Amino acid sequence: MNPRLETQFLGLKLRNPLLVGASPLTDSAEVALELQERGAAAVVMRSLFEEQLEIENRAGEAFIESHGESFAEATSFFPSVAEYVMGPEEYLRQLEELKRKLEIPVIASLNGVTVGGWTEYARRMEECGADALELNFYFLPTDAAESGQQVEDKLAEVVAAVRGQIKIPLAVKLSPFYSSLPNLVRRMASLGAQGVVIFNRFYQPDIDIELLEASPRINLSHSSELLLRLRWLAILHGQSRIDLASSGGVHTPEDLIKTLMAGADTVQIVSLLLRHGAKQVQVLLEGLARWMQEHEYTDIKQLRGCMSLQKCPDPSAFERTNYMRVLQGWQA
Ligand SMILES: Cc1cc2nc3c(=O)[nH]c(=O)nc-3n(C[C@H](O)[C@H](O)[C@H](O)COP(=O)(O)O)c2cc1C
Repeated sequence: MNPRLETQFLGLKLRNPLLVGASPLTDSAEVALELQERGAAAVVMRSLFEEQLEIENRAGEAFIESHGESFAEATSFFPSVAEYVMGPEEYLRQLEELKRKLEIPVIASLNGVTVGGWTEYARRMEECGADALELNFYFLPTDAAESGQQVEDKLAEVVAAVRGQIKIPLAVKLSPFYSSLPNLVRRMASLGAQGVVIFNRFYQPDIDIELLEASPRINLSHSSELLLRLRWLAILHGQSRIDLASSGGVHTPEDLIKTLMAGADTVQIVSLLLRHGAKQVQVLLEGLARWMQEHEYTDIKQLRGCMSLQKCPDPSAFERTNYMRVLQGWQA
């Protein structure tokens, strides 16, 4: 008998725990349809960015000019309106089209770091049929005068502002760079977020030593990036009344199984699909089902969190104790 893969996430009923993460993969309804056919349980659209939406709201360049004054050369960093792949209206039309054509839930995405008029787009996404919203707080602290507490308060303000705009479920996509992630995740739950996405992946600029330029680049992920997620999922599982989605580093059925065992309710994939195509959804799901059958798991619930800090036979593996043991055990 096939194992049961049905899952709940953000209150949505999903046929399995595998989602397509925020990316260009839903820019085309045809691609999204293929992902659905291959088994994806839901899709997350690419993000609309605060900067882009504020430009729209303030009708243009005045916004960029005012920011340019506060940060030398900033104007050259902002993409011009024409450089964004999708304008806000086009995005909302795309959302409506995906909702018309797909049976699986469609999650819209906003990316911003300050409270402002742009958060109204959360409501517009809801009006256009989004089943849930993912909020990506992609904030890089660069000012030594700004404390960690202030950064967390800023995040909380943005979450509260977006939450106030919508009734649909909200998930917050976080970076790993917080002093106490379990506490922060609990705070997200208290602000009304139903889920967190673990983790945002920071695109790290390289340095061109000939041109003396920082060159931004997107590198697709590898399985090695999963380890950071596994540790934090294992620590977070069961600590707050909030759903956990994993994002980053899932490339094989084994990666997917480990992520669920660590405690993820759902698992998002992007790099694998961009590299090898939509068929990989099916490869992962078939691999998961086969492994579960071979190991006599009948329901995904039996797998979820079985290797979390609360449940695994040796929780020290995720904690400081094992760090000491591993370092002491290294033979030169
Ligand atoms: C080309 C590309 C575009 C992306 N666009 C977005 C985006 O608009 N919003 C967002 O939150 N994440 C975006 N991401 C990040 C992915 O959603 C995901 O978090 C990250 O790629 C890690 O997952 P992976 O290892 O499966 O690729 C993008 C990633 C890629 C590769």
